[in-house]
Amino acid sequence: MRVILATEPAHLDAALALRFVVFVGEQGVSPEGERDALDQAPDTVHFLALSGEGPSFDGPGDVVGVGRLLGPRADGHPHIGRVAIARNQRRSGVGRALMDAIEREALARFGEGGAVTVALSAQVQAIPFYEAIGYVIVGEPYLDEGIWHRDGTKVVSHPAADAQGASGIAPSDFARRAPGQRRRRAPRA
Ligand SMILES: CC(C)(COP(=O)(O)OP(=O)(O)OC[C@H]1O[C@@H](n2cnc3c(N)ncnc32)[C@H](O)[C@@H]1OP(=O)(O)O)[C@@H](O)C(=O)NCCC(=O)NCCS
Repeated sequence: MRVILATEPAHLDAALALRFVVFVGEQGVSPEGERDALDQAPDTVHFLALSGEGPSFDGPGDVVGVGRLLGPRADGHPHIGRVAIARNQRRSGVGRALMDAIEREALARFGEGGAVTVALSAQVQAIPFYEAIGYVIVGEPYLDEGIWHRDGTKVVSHPAADAQGASGIAPSDFARRAPGQRRRRAPRA
C-alpha cells in the first residue's frame, strides 16, 4: 500500500468514486453535498491510498482510501476531510497511513516553526479512530448532512521537534455550527 497525491483528473475521479461509495452509498450523504467547490480549490490536495506498491496508477479499482487537505480555513488551520477507506480494507492500518501522509503534507505546506495544527470534523462514530491517531476532540456534537460530528485538532510536528519536546496535542479554538440548529461557519471538510 502507498499513498499518492492526486496530480491528474483521473486521480480525482477515482477519489470521488470511492467517496460516493462510502459517503453517499453507505452513509446517505447527498451527492450534491458530497462533491463541493472545495474539491477544485487551488489550495486543495487530494490523497489516494493505493493497494499496489508499483509506480503506476491502475485506476479506481486500485484505490483503497482517500482524503483531502484544505488550505487554512477561517480558524487559521488547514483542514483534513473526506477521509474514507474501502469497506473491505478497514481496520488494517490504511486510515492511519493515509492520515500520516496528509499530516506530513500539511506540515510541509503550512508548518511554522516546525509544527502545524490540523483540524477536522469527525463523525462521532469515527472518533475512536481519530483519537487513536492523536486527535483531541473538542466542542459539542452537531449535525452535518444528517450525521453527527465533533471537531478535532492535532498538532503535527517534525520528529526533530518532537525530540525537543516541541510537539504536543492542544485543543483549538475553532468551531463549526450545526446546520438546521445553528449556522455553520465552515463547509464539511
Ligand atoms: C474511520 C475510518 C477512516 C478508519 O480507517 P481504518 O483504515 O479502518 O483505520 P486503521 O485501521 O488505520 O485504524 C487506526 C486506529 O484506529 C482504530 N480504529 C479504527 N476504526 C475504529 C473504530 N471504528 N472503533 C475503534 N477504533 C477504531 C484502530 O483500532 C487503530 O488503532 P490501533 O492501531 O491502536 O489498533 C474507516 O473506518 C472509514 O473509512 N469509515 C467510513 C467513512 C468514515 O466514517 N470516514 C470518517 C469521516 S469523519
